[in-house]
Amino acid sequence: MNFFNYKNRELYCEDVKIKDIADDVGTPVYIYSKKTLKRHYAVLSNAFTSIEPLICYSVKANSNIANIALFASMGAGADIVSGGELYRALKAGIKADRIVYSGVGKTEEEIAYAIKENILLFNVESIEEIDIINSVAKKLKKKARVGIRINPDIDPQTHPYISTGLKKNKFGIDSKYAVDAYKYASSMQYLTVNGIDMHIGSQLTTVSPIVSAINRAMNLVQKINQSGINIQYMDIGGGLGITYKDELPPVPQKYAKAIEGALANFEGKLILEPGRVLVGNAGILVGKVLYRKYNGKKRFMIIDAAMNDLIRPSLYNAYHSIIPVKTINTKMEKQDVVGPICESGDFFAKDRNLHLMDRNELVAIMSAGAYGFSMSSNYNSRRRAAEVLVDGSRYNVIRRRETLQDLIRGETLIG
Ligand code: LLP
Repeated sequence: MNFFNYKNRELYCEDVKIKDIADDVGTPVYIYSKKTLKRHYAVLSNAFTSIEPLICYSVKANSNIANIALFASMGAGADIVSGGELYRALKAGIKADRIVYSGVGKTEEEIAYAIKENILLFNVESIEEIDIINSVAKKLKKKARVGIRINPDIDPQTHPYISTGLKKNKFGIDSKYAVDAYKYASSMQYLTVNGIDMHIGSQLTTVSPIVSAINRAMNLVQKINQSGINIQYMDIGGGLGITYKDELPPVPQKYAKAIEGALANFEGKLILEPGRVLVGNAGILVGKVLYRKYNGKKRFMIIDAAMNDLIRPSLYNAYHSIIPVKTINTKMEKQDVVGPICESGDFFAKDRNLHLMDRNELVAIMSAGAYGFSMSSNYNSRRRAAEVLVDGSRYNVIRRRETLQDLIRGETLIG
């Protein structure tokens, strides 16, 4: 459920007309609904009845510090994958002792930053990383808390680019060697080994792969505990899917119930790393129609947003619903919705039956709150879009549109 609705054939975010924001801030613009963000967080956290998980919001899904701060105010921690995300999370007010750090390629510099800040947990993804975290901790004369990310080799039944828990994926340590990895890590003087972690994939639409992965992890926990290591944290990652078109992902209550069942014998703390489910349907990307044309029989609608703003259709062939901000013409026709970038892969929809729209009319690309702005770039030297957060009948620009000067920031003419 979200708070983007038509009133009198005009699209609103909560109580604000999308058109008013576009007139004020310009396009393309990302618009987020605070009420939706809060609701999604509350529904997920209230879905758990017998255990109280630590919800570490996955910052990569939407990294704007205003949005991270909103979740922080509701009690969230953060799941990070880089020093940059650590910086954002801390700036947004997330306490370091609620931050977990995953990723296969943490640099020594990033590891040192996280140890100095005293984060809750590193999710370690290789034996070599165990050595490096230990040696950095030794230099800093501090102990680092680590969990091991296991690769449970389970098919999450999602897009291959966003499946992460299969042996052929680069993530985690092969669960066959996990117990040895635990023994090795716990022999390190500067590590406290107290977690187990996994993340099998994203946009999951059934709970069964998650339950299978937890079962595998529970088996391992038993073995690990037998070797005298105390697993206090079970981090099951994120991955819960959302409806983009007609998918029917499990509701949070069903997801929570399945997890609580699988963890009935676990005595430690559950950690979740949700991203998409919190922000995906809480944001839209609004663009303006620049031109319409036919190439042969094919109709194109060219808008001022492009793949640099939202790359999901180009990268994953992802479906995003596209609707007019004001329904003036009810006639529909099959068309491609494309951006101004010089690539044929710059599209939002192909051969889709959509409203016929005039130049300068506004279109909303829905479900763009997750992996939208956070994956945007400056390709074709396009300035990155503004971001706006709506709160009832008010709104704030939470990231101003980039300027031309921003585009060349840090660059130097030589000679
Ligand atoms: N934890 C870890 C370790 C992750 O790698 C991810 C996402 C998450 C949590 C959050 O997953 P979520 O709850 O959002 O599914 N760019 C792709 C999605 C990539 C996901 C990467 N990892 C997309 O636009 O669909």
